[in-house]
Amino acid sequence: MSKDEGDIKKRIEKLKDQINYHNYRYYVLDSPEISDAEYDRLFDELVELEKKHPKFVTPDSPTQRVGAPPLTEFKTVPHSIPMLSLNKALTGDEFLDFHRRVKELSGVSEKKIEYTAELKFDGLAVELVYRNGKLAQGSTRGDGFIGEDITLNLKTIKTIPLRLLKRKAKVPDLLEVRGEVIMSKSEFEKLNREREKKEEPLFANPRNAAAGSVRQLDSKITASRPLYMYAYGIGRFEGIKLNSHSEALQYLKDLGLNVNPHQKLCKNTLEVIEFYQNILKIREKLDCEIDGIVVKMNDFKLQEKIGELSRSPRWAVAWKFPAQQQTTVVEDIRVNIGRTGAVTPVAILRAVRVGGVVVSRATLHNEDEMRKKDVRIKDTVLVQRAGDVIPEVVKVITSKRTGKEKVFKMPERCPVCGSKVERLLGEAVHRCTGIACPAQIKENMYHFVSKGAMNVDGLGFKLLEQMLDKELIKDPADLYFLKKEDIMKMDRMGDKLAENILGAIKKSKKPDLPHLIYALGIRNVGEHLATILAKEFNSINNLKNKTKEKLTAVREIGPIVAESIYNFFHDEKNLKVLEKLKKGGLKFPKMKVEVKKNPLSKKTFVLTGALESFTRDEAKKIIEDMGGRVSSSVSKNTDFVLVGKEPGSKLDKAKSLKVKTIDENEFKKLIGK
Ligand code: IVH
Repeated sequence: MSKDEGDIKKRIEKLKDQINYHNYRYYVLDSPEISDAEYDRLFDELVELEKKHPKFVTPDSPTQRVGAPPLTEFKTVPHSIPMLSLNKALTGDEFLDFHRRVKELSGVSEKKIEYTAELKFDGLAVELVYRNGKLAQGSTRGDGFIGEDITLNLKTIKTIPLRLLKRKAKVPDLLEVRGEVIMSKSEFEKLNREREKKEEPLFANPRNAAAGSVRQLDSKITASRPLYMYAYGIGRFEGIKLNSHSEALQYLKDLGLNVNPHQKLCKNTLEVIEFYQNILKIREKLDCEIDGIVVKMNDFKLQEKIGELSRSPRWAVAWKFPAQQQTTVVEDIRVNIGRTGAVTPVAILRAVRVGGVVVSRATLHNEDEMRKKDVRIKDTVLVQRAGDVIPEVVKVITSKRTGKEKVFKMPERCPVCGSKVERLLGEAVHRCTGIACPAQIKENMYHFVSKGAMNVDGLGFKLLEQMLDKELIKDPADLYFLKKEDIMKMDRMGDKLAENILGAIKKSKKPDLPHLIYALGIRNVGEHLATILAKEFNSINNLKNKTKEKLTAVREIGPIVAESIYNFFHDEKNLKVLEKLKKGGLKFPKMKVEVKKNPLSKKTFVLTGALESFTRDEAKKIIEDMGGRVSSSVSKNTDFVLVGKEPGSKLDKAKSLKVKTIDENEFKKLIGK
């Protein structure tokens, strides 16, 4: 090799290292250090050099991520240490059973048993083999002993390093990394929308989409799919020392692998239970699908001591979340009349537990949805309940049909008030046209007292129903004229309860403006728009008199919403109720204007390095919410450079321009945290 060639090779190696590092910052840490343009420059230079000197192209070059020519079949790969499966615990008791067994088998005192708790991802298990820091092979789990060689496909996934980072940890001679390839929920939905447009078959769920994308003979297809990998464990390793699972996870992180931040080293079962409950609470908000948590004994020596039984380790357990889907039978289909008169078909179900809650009704949304899914009375269906969302029918299990199922026809008359039911042109919903429909009034009342609105504690649907039936109330304002003897007329009412309800009604007399606007039940005005209207118009009086033009001038208010607001305040009946509310003692508030001076207002920030308590996007959002701006490069006009761990060149630039730099703690003080 000539000296020139030697220099070129060195430059290529340097570029690969740099690009690899910036890839990690961008894809794994979500915290880039350089601009996209700077990244592109490095990448282009590497492409150029490799084009001129093809003999220096190596399989671990970042230019080799784009996919290779299709294969005719996958080769098989034996796993040197079998990839085991996990035993399940379906309840807290079953988890405690697992712990009891662990205690007995390990023979150590309870205090010595620590667990790591992490997410149980719903994707495809894979293994990556790194030799001397370079990705040598990637495979599927297969039957646990032998998998398929999907190296070319895995190389297209950006969160899989082609070479391990040397900056923080000693690179091992050999390391087998285990983890899960997943597709995020949002990317899954996007992909399916695109496939629908192209009339391609849809994927049933993110797991199938991920598995289908990874097991492609043409790696270019894999490259076109938005996949991630989370590393959750190791197989064989040589040339390093690791004593526990938590150490291994930290080590993987240091090597540039993507380790999910939701994991915890737990000192006892209580901490595990707490982790389980916390994750269950945020499950819906996570962008990746999970079906539980995985609890692993932390100490490798103890793991080894208690070993495995029939292909599952005895030191780990998958503690699953309650299933969010179940099958059941549609006993009947009825309609529900909403507060705006919307007539919604509802499936009355044979009661079934879904996600830990008994479900006996599921919305069918509207006639078109019901027809599209072809739900009929007596059908066996798959129902789903996600978080606080109303249960819905996912699909009909058509193989269970007997021929006795009945198609439901939308009613022509409202089953409650007998008025005509209409479906306007271009609308998906049917509406009851009765202006005094008791069903609508009931729903409206219920909305008025509900949590995001006036928040009258203890006044549930059943009680309101009785009050309306007994004609104690006809509209929301009547609530403020109720006396104790009125409430005592309700079934099963006691002294104390009546007083509590009166107290709650009284307490609701001083609402803040957004809650009051929301409570009015103006069509198309949800909690978010109610807050915007409150901030913009400052009082009901002011909002009441606005023209449609004035209303549409507000950001986020379109002509349809403006029309609803205008119509609401130009309806005699509504104005009367407003007057009556006032007479009943309800205070009509003004919006409190925040006078607190904001230290971030109009200030320009530049971020560099990784932050501990926030992702880059979170920090950006905080700054912007407080009226500041985030810029990508440092200039004289920058007010603050927020410096995290391993800052980049921006810190040098800030110093040379004498721009004020702050660290994460100072930033927290600034934002009042
Ligand atoms: S550890 C011996 N950790 O669950 C330990 N597995 O039934 C075996 N999985 O196919 C795996 N998230 O793909 C482990 N945080 C996690 C996991 C996880 C998902 C999957 C894995 C495997 C199955 C085991």
